[in-house]
Amino acid sequence: MPNPISGFSKLSKIEKIEWLLDTYFSDKESARALVKQYWNSDEKLQKLHDEFIENTITNFYLPLGVAPNFKINDKLFTIPMAIEESSVVAAASKSAKFWLDRGGFKTEVISTEKIGQVHFMYNGDAEALQHYFECVKPKLFEATSDITKNMRRRGGGILDIELRNKSEGLDNYYQLHATFETLDAMGANFINSCLEAFAKTFQSEAKDQLDGDLEIVMSILSNYVPNCLVRAEVSCPISELASKDISNPQLFANKFKQAVNIAEIEPYRAVTHNKGIMNGIDAVVLATGNDFRAVEAGVHAYASRDGKYSSLTHCSIEDDTFKFWIEIPLALGTVGGLTSLHPLVKFSLEMLEKPSARDLMQIVAVAGLAQNFAAVKSLTTTGIQEGHMKMHLMNILNQFEATTDEKTALIEHFKINVVTHSAVVEAIEKLRR
Ligand code: MEV
Repeated sequence: MPNPISGFSKLSKIEKIEWLLDTYFSDKESARALVKQYWNSDEKLQKLHDEFIENTITNFYLPLGVAPNFKINDKLFTIPMAIEESSVVAAASKSAKFWLDRGGFKTEVISTEKIGQVHFMYNGDAEALQHYFECVKPKLFEATSDITKNMRRRGGGILDIELRNKSEGLDNYYQLHATFETLDAMGANFINSCLEAFAKTFQSEAKDQLDGDLEIVMSILSNYVPNCLVRAEVSCPISELASKDISNPQLFANKFKQAVNIAEIEPYRAVTHNKGIMNGIDAVVLATGNDFRAVEAGVHAYASRDGKYSSLTHCSIEDDTFKFWIEIPLALGTVGGLTSLHPLVKFSLEMLEKPSARDLMQIVAVAGLAQNFAAVKSLTTTGIQEGHMKMHLMNILNQFEATTDEKTALIEHFKINVVTHSAVVEAIEKLRR
């Protein structure tokens, strides 16, 4: 076990790497070479990445793929996706193509409200607190007028502040529950700065006006944004679902709907069903420089809003029309943060024709719906492994450092043979013998 190290963050990058090599690696030369192999030769670019986080030692690559042919509200998009899982980009592209010929995706932003809270304890009279809140509320807006000036000029800002009594769940617990419109910014810094200013004013003004003790616990935005909602939908007459791999469209529609209905009532299935949706969503969220952890947390809370974890997508069959849709909370930004720093994020946003946050919400929701359509379509027809193992084949071949000729031969071989890990290993070995 290594000894604790103090002052690690103050070491230079090279010193940090050398400490790691001395502490954990037997083959220091190879480990050092590997770390350096992933450095960018452009020092300025490397410095930019080094400074995104603390204690950076090297870069950790993810592939950036693209899924073309997405028709969204009659406009065509190529969607950037940063993801390590094979078959996600292929599935998105397949769905895009499938719906391209059937009217494309229709989307709408339902709402764009963000939320932040000042959590505090108060042990006095609740009515007196309510009265105090009403008196001090204009001062809370005043206290943030400098912070909100630019946002207000562009049409956003603080929408409202409410006092909420939460003492039924926890003794003496109250909150200032504030709502915000942050336009094209994700708004985390803006919201948190406003909340901290509220907290300061709320506490200092309380001294002469309240008899109980008021203690601020914390001020922070909420990643649960059930009123920052977007909807995406596909629909077509059932007969038009017929395609290369759907010979009986009515049977397909029924089975597809059953699969969605199962995810609506069965949490074990809902989690995996929604995981497939997040394959698409996270990949676009990451490629466009947004915070996928925030999105994940908010989306899963939304999936449980009725007290039971459920599917984020829904399906209906009415009057011979098949309809499949998603409604999902997405707090995204297209300005600020990584969006103006990371060169590949800028590239992705330019590819999407510089979307507003509202545009991006719609594109991301479509990526989630498309991904889910592809997964449920495979699951209810061929099964998921056929497509997965084809993509997996490439990963195994790369693991075995297959040459271009070997790859060509083995891809051909597995067009008619079932891909399993052991079958691929055996085939490589046979080829090499
Ligand atoms: C795999 O990453 C995602 C799926 O399991 C999603 C699903 O089951 O719907 C294929």
